[in-house]
Amino acid sequence: MKKIRKAVIPVAGLGTRFLPATKSMPKEMLPVVDRPVVQYAVDEAFEAGIEHIVFVTGRNKAVIEDYFDLHPELIGTLEQTGKKTQLEALESMLPVAGATSFIRQQSPQGLGHAVWCAREVIGNEPFALLLPDMVSFGGRGCLAETVDLYERTGGNVIAVERCDPSETNKYGIVGRGAEIGGGFEVTAMVEKPAPANAPSNFYINGRYILQPEIFALLGNQQRGAGNEIQLTDAMVRLSKDQPFFAQPFLGRMFDCGSKEGFIQANIAFALARNDMKGPVFEMLQEFVRSHERQEEAA
Ligand code: G1P
Repeated sequence: MKKIRKAVIPVAGLGTRFLPATKSMPKEMLPVVDRPVVQYAVDEAFEAGIEHIVFVTGRNKAVIEDYFDLHPELIGTLEQTGKKTQLEALESMLPVAGATSFIRQQSPQGLGHAVWCAREVIGNEPFALLLPDMVSFGGRGCLAETVDLYERTGGNVIAVERCDPSETNKYGIVGRGAEIGGGFEVTAMVEKPAPANAPSNFYINGRYILQPEIFALLGNQQRGAGNEIQLTDAMVRLSKDQPFFAQPFLGRMFDCGSKEGFIQANIAFALARNDMKGPVFEMLQEFVRSHERQEEAA
């Protein structure tokens, strides 16, 4: 079984759900507490043993490439002013030289097309895919769990979570088959089905291990839901020849591509930090009390 060494992180999306903030700033650079959203996906990838990350970018995303580079003036200033903690934090977050590649998607044609753009850098080996809008919270990262299942089953592995049955039309949904190695066999995959057509409420939460044969299928994939080249449609075709397994994530994923999920993530990560939990918890309690008073008065 081939080790998972490389990961694709697509960062070309326009972020229309976050306008106007994303008019001149990539949505992947919005901070959850004090780290940009994309940093969480990168940390999760390295935690899972990934050695090289391929970012699929687009216009107005150059700042992401700069973010993962050294910043000599900033380092100089932090050194001169004795800000050792900040300096160490910056250094610990920087991928080693050569561990990242950046590829332009050129035009937004869907997730399937973005993944296909990484084919030459990935080559003929299985790889991980992380959708950075989805931020993994709690204990071990989702990709590490997904790699664990892959090491038991081989094939293709998708991380899943349960969603509200009324919300299946927001996600890719999988059908649940026999249990295997802590996960289960995938019996169906459908992109954004209406609740009546959904094979379950297990939704694809944005972490995948895929075999390289996906690239040839993506290369001739017809447009699907939303008139985009859908990764899920190519995975359905790949599943005719190769097994797919699902790993139910034990932690929780926040959808930072939505305003609600983004705010939830900020609160959850702040409450998980020793330097912030006290004041944030007090503020939340005060908000709740004042909200309740207003409701009573109304
Ligand atoms: C994509 C995938 C979908 C998955 C979702 C997770 O959809 O196509 O299968 O459930 O990410 O966030 P998108 O959010 O790009 O519409």
